[in-house]
Amino acid sequence: MKTIKPIGMFDSGVGGLTLFKGIKTLLPNENLIYFGDTARLPYGTKSPKVIKNFSLQIARFLENLGIKVLVVACHTASSTALGDLKKKIKIPVIGVIEPAAQKAVAMTKNNKIGVIGTKTTIESASYQSFIKKTNPKIMITTVAAPLLVPLVEEGWVDKNVTRTILKEYILPFKKAKIDTLILGCTHYPLLKRLFQEELEPGVTLIDTSFETAFHLKQLLNENSLRNTTIMHRHYKFYVSDDPDKFALSARFFLREKIGTVKHIVLDE
Ligand code: DGL
Repeated sequence: MKTIKPIGMFDSGVGGLTLFKGIKTLLPNENLIYFGDTARLPYGTKSPKVIKNFSLQIARFLENLGIKVLVVACHTASSTALGDLKKKIKIPVIGVIEPAAQKAVAMTKNNKIGVIGTKTTIESASYQSFIKKTNPKIMITTVAAPLLVPLVEEGWVDKNVTRTILKEYILPFKKAKIDTLILGCTHYPLLKRLFQEELEPGVTLIDTSFETAFHLKQLLNENSLRNTTIMHRHYKFYVSDDPDKFALSARFFLREKIGTVKHIVLDE
């Protein structure tokens, strides 16, 4: 039965677990396979060409495992490789850009949206072009924030140094008087409280992990792929580097223990 097939998802590393959590919560009957490309992260500083190659390799690996849908959890990969994957992969593919941008457009009242993400995500202008296509009147302020990912991975989500760096990054948003901010990176949901405290009160934060899970649910419904049978769910994790290290970071991201993590070497 097609519906009981797992959903496949990937990220450059552990950050995509923020979306994994969203999917697990919203779609509790679904089986999930997660791939973290821990040997080759970060993606956020790499060129679109390189990320496209990595993404296609992972997508083919997951497709061969018999997944029913592919979720690109990584914002950098969604920004650079989504179009390519949609052309080359035979199952439905969904990324994080459109769900978040759509929500931001719906939420803004003053037509001023901010986007914060990795260098490659911001340079790709993926969020910017989707927002402009939907409403050309919207003013967009973007900030590339390469220092935030390592701080979150270090677990420094409430340290003073993180707050100081974040304050610096959000200055352009304050200046532009945005009322909606897209957290355009897998790691930023863990900094939500800090963002909320440092931005003007009333700025809406768009958490892509929730929005994408919601879009995924719609996509499954539209394609009659939703698993409605209650059975023993299984979650599988694959990584391209040390599985124990991934399992340890996963505990911090998910606030729970995950099952076995397998190491896999992808063919070039
Ligand atoms: N997963 C990446 C993203 O959402 C952040 C980490 C990285 O740069 O690899 O853009």
